[in-house]
Amino acid sequence: MNDIGQLIDEASKKIENANVATLENVRILYLGKNGILTQILKSLSQYSIEDRKRIGLEANRAKQIIESGIENKKKNLEKILLDEKTQKEKLDYSQSFYFPFSKGSFHPVVQTIKGMVSIFESLGFLSVEGPEIETDWYNFEALNIPKNHPARDVQDTFYIAGMKNLLRTHTSPGQIHVMEKQKPPVKVIVPGRVYRNEASDPSHSSTFHQIEGFEVDENISFVDLKTVLIEFIYKFFGSDLNVRFRPSHFQFTEPSAEVDIQCFFCKGKGCRICKNSGWIEALGCGMVHPNVLKAVNYDSEKYTGYAFGIGVERITMLKYGIDDIRLFYENDLRFLKQF
Ligand code: PHE
Repeated sequence: MNDIGQLIDEASKKIENANVATLENVRILYLGKNGILTQILKSLSQYSIEDRKRIGLEANRAKQIIESGIENKKKNLEKILLDEKTQKEKLDYSQSFYFPFSKGSFHPVVQTIKGMVSIFESLGFLSVEGPEIETDWYNFEALNIPKNHPARDVQDTFYIAGMKNLLRTHTSPGQIHVMEKQKPPVKVIVPGRVYRNEASDPSHSSTFHQIEGFEVDENISFVDLKTVLIEFIYKFFGSDLNVRFRPSHFQFTEPSAEVDIQCFFCKGKGCRICKNSGWIEALGCGMVHPNVLKAVNYDSEKYTGYAFGIGVERITMLKYGIDDIRLFYENDLRFLKQF
């Protein structure tokens, strides 16, 4: 009797200390084919009927206790395993695989626009945007480019079905929108995307960006234009570069000029970037043509103004020494991450 009580105690301790690997051994030790309890139950026949009954009863009770002890232990162990597993599988979404986090950044074209806009704002310009889909009037007619004028051929236009609307070929229609709505004085810049139907190559893209700028008031002269542009160029590129104004032609300005900046790669000596001229074309500009002022019902006797258009990609390429405009549109992170 005592033996069986002791056996239960021992077995209980063994079960308690068992782990997943050893619990089965405990079962075999007591309940297996040759297990201690199995042996006891097998040997019952050698006892007297009375003893047989008593020992049989006790042994069966012990068997049940040990069996259910093992069963409970097994369930506990399984639960612990499952808890550990779910704990491991629980995802912490705040954790980054790429720690430390790499911050997102603005596209180099956007960075340039932001930089340019803030310089012009510091010079008193207000920044506004215009539509990318324009009518013939805004993109050409009001800018002194009449129908069938050869100047239209210079800009290969994307027309929209029906030929009534088109994708703006420059930001100059922004001048017309602003002046139609506001009487002088106006001093505005219009950054935006423009479209030209031309094949793409290292220096051409059918989509690119410009910043238009203009000021109209009484007594505005070419000196004001030069002052603003030189100030912008110095602030954007640095003040150690020479700048030159070269006579040019645009339908909507008279007189017109193109501004060249001394090549900042070779400092004017001549290199691949400036095609050995020592100068880099940076922008077009001029005094607003009286016909443009008339188109928006401004008194062209009383008011004068200047306007300029800067190619954003060009300026960005020059600033960072990028030699292919198409890099801006490929979204290759190896390129974009450098800015
Ligand atoms: N719109 C002209 C272009 O796209 C640039 C320009 C703007 C020239 C304003 C003069 C004045 O080439």
